[in-house]
Amino acid sequence: MNDESGSTSIFEPPAWEERYSGDGTIWSGEPNAQLVAEASDLSPGTALDVGCGEGGDVIWLARRGWTVTGADFSAAGLARASRLAAEAGIAERTDWWQVDAREFEADGRAYDLVTTHYLHAPDGGMVDVVRRLTGAVAPGGHLLVVGHAPPARSHHHHDNHGEAERRAMFLAADLLPGLPEDFEPLVVEQRPRRVTRGEKTIEIDDSTLLARRAKG
Ligand SMILES: C[S@@+](CC[C@H](N)C(=O)[O-])C[C@H]1O[C@@H](n2cnc3c(N)ncnc32)[C@H](O)[C@@H]1O
Repeated sequence: MNDESGSTSIFEPPAWEERYSGDGTIWSGEPNAQLVAEASDLSPGTALDVGCGEGGDVIWLARRGWTVTGADFSAAGLARASRLAAEAGIAERTDWWQVDAREFEADGRAYDLVTTHYLHAPDGGMVDVVRRLTGAVAPGGHLLVVGHAPPARSHHHHDNHGEAERRAMFLAADLLPGLPEDFEPLVVEQRPRRVTRGEKTIEIDDSTLLARRAKG
């Protein structure tokens, strides 16, 4: 998993196919905190969740009346998400799209909300991912990008992230160059969140960028 150059790189599909092809679920199934914070007050429309994994956010949005496309480069992840959406009884408001965010082209598709949580592209690649995702935001729609902030320098020797993983993390402001001129940034911040890792509860920062596209 932590081989940063080989086929098991966490930035490439095989590592995720392997993770999602085992038994049981990897993620909690609960929606992500920043999605709940930012999307609860939006009126439901169409949404795209890129790097949707097992579809916790897709299911939460669909339950609130959104029509949602879950996108991920892992076929096994999408298969799980689609099964869980069917179990949740909201399959008819969802569909699925196998795509690599690094090669993403909107191709005329437009959504009222484009969201992505904890998808990390290597070597500063998130700015380009953000630029690609903006192409799928409808006029007047929102883009929400959330990911891990790099741990503070003083923690470097105590965390267990590889150097490539750390380089793929970002601050919200790092993503601003990916926004075209007709996007207004509404939230550009690191938001602390408590997580439990093994026996420890620690605070990590969610880098959070919310932007709105002009009505046009
Ligand atoms: C850390 S998981 C987060 C899953 C989900 N968003 C959540 O918060 O529970 C990252 C997800 O992004 C997907 N992913 C990583 N890189 C990707 C890329 N370049 N294009 C599309 N999906 C990607 C992985 O397959 C995985 O499902």
